[in-house]
Amino acid sequence: MGLVELAADLKAKKKQGITGNSLKGKNIALIFEKPSTRTRCSFTIGCIDEGGHPEYLGQDDIQLGHKESIKDTARVLGRMFDGIEFRGFKHSSVEALAQYSGVPVWNGLTDDYHPTQILADLLTMKEQFGQLKGLKFVYAGDGRNNMANSLMIGMTKMGIDFVILAPKSLWPKEELVSLCEGYAKESGCSVTVTDDVNKVEGADVIYTDVWCSMGEEDKAAERVAILKPYQVNEEMLKKTGKDRTIVMHCLPAVKGNEITEDVFEKYADVIFDEAENRMHTIKAVMVATLGE
Ligand code: CP
Ligand code: NVA
Repeated sequence: MGLVELAADLKAKKKQGITGNSLKGKNIALIFEKPSTRTRCSFTIGCIDEGGHPEYLGQDDIQLGHKESIKDTARVLGRMFDGIEFRGFKHSSVEALAQYSGVPVWNGLTDDYHPTQILADLLTMKEQFGQLKGLKFVYAGDGRNNMANSLMIGMTKMGIDFVILAPKSLWPKEELVSLCEGYAKESGCSVTVTDDVNKVEGADVIYTDVWCSMGEEDKAAERVAILKPYQVNEEMLKKTGKDRTIVMHCLPAVKGNEITEDVFEKYADVIFDEAENRMHTIKAVMVATLGE
């Protein structure tokens, strides 16, 4: 069973009041250098639902990267915990934890990637459309942030036509686009990076994310200036030429920037399903990689 199917199964069981035991006796470290609502709560509840014990380790709680190298912290935590989630800045930190801890390490977001979010997005799309292959997915906004990067990987692996609408200065790295072109070729879809907003035509999903990611707050004025034409609003929705298009957002949202309040509220049911699905999919990741 794939992760999305496993998550759907765990979700259905949870709705019937059935939780599992597959993480019984497992201790899971949750390292957060950056704040989080959804990811933190999803790992915590997903772990407890399956009988495990989560331990939150915030920025000021441990020495990670300040007084102790990540390599040493990884070797300590790996002797005490059965799995480690990491949310933080440098992608190299999560790689180092994985390299030196000897236990499963899950990326809860770095400056470059946000892979667990993509699983929730895929589950939500499956619920909305019944199938994934052949859909057209358009991401509008900061085309080189962690969400754009991970969405491009996830969608092209699943055979979903993927488009980034962004100004040229915010396009993703060429190497990543080439990698995803390879995935697209294998799965039978396409990947397009463009600054032409009209390419939203035919979109089944329009997706957006904040214009300034965590740690980039000083860029607010310049981002608003260049990203305004890429705001998800009624005008953009009309350009799809479809009446079954859905709008998604990983949250948290800055309404009035990347998405208008009215469009956000129109698609609130989908967006909050997506938020709930973080928990079911993160639970699935832990169960699949650590569960008994
Ligand atoms: N979407 C997401 O990762 O939300 P949090 O930052 O609240 O975890
Ligand atoms: N790009 C956003 C995603 C938040 C879930 C950030 O990194 O802040």
